[in-house]
Amino acid sequence: MNQTPLIQVPVITVDGPSGSGKGTVSQRLAAELGWHFLDSGALYRLLACAARRDGIGLNDEAALAALADRIDAEFTFSPSGEERVLLDGEDVTRTLRSEETGNAASQVAALPAVRTALLAWQRRYRRPPGLVADGRDMGTVVFPDAALKIFLEARPEERAYRRHKQLKEKGINTSLEAVVAEVRARDERDRTRATAPLVPAEDACIIDSSDLGIDATLALILDRVHGKI
Ligand code: DC
Repeated sequence: MNQTPLIQVPVITVDGPSGSGKGTVSQRLAAELGWHFLDSGALYRLLACAARRDGIGLNDEAALAALADRIDAEFTFSPSGEERVLLDGEDVTRTLRSEETGNAASQVAALPAVRTALLAWQRRYRRPPGLVADGRDMGTVVFPDAALKIFLEARPEERAYRRHKQLKEKGINTSLEAVVAEVRARDERDRTRATAPLVPAEDACIIDSSDLGIDATLALILDRVHGKI
């Protein structure tokens, strides 16, 4: 029997490059609407962590896709609101957010079989009353029927500066120059890969957050949300 629900749970997608502000903005958007939140980058990061743990090469496509099918992840928040992520029961919160893991995630994310393996996992987050999905291909591949698609951009130097500040706040020490180089390399790989490259969906609303704070960006998005949903 066909199990497709008559009314699909609404999704808002927020795609964009690293440092565009999409993580913070989409989390706040989800909280504002009382909707679920998907940080799809965290799934690619978890896979990269699991691969390192199991000694699987970052280009071993078949082994990585099989690994994606069997890892168990748990996202929790401490009472003070701090994120805690468990991978097969092990706390990987700190490793997950490092630049090294981001870079490894970007490498595994370029492999088509890995992206296919993560599709069902990502779509399971679509639950009532709605979902805000943050990533690179949320509007183009994972949720092409989203009610509203946002693509957040920002100048590369501004994005590197934000990333550097974020890492410092998390106690991760690295130079601004290293972050600039890393942001450039990751952008290049994410935008030029053959499968699900980082591009705005045709029907996406593009917002440049370079000179906007988080509040102003969120307000702009909420205006669109109220016009659409
Ligand atoms: O958003 P992030 O920095 O946590 O993502 C880490 C990497 O994962 C990013 O460089 C590319 C990849 N990624 C992806 O290819 N598709 C997504 N939907 C999310 C992340």
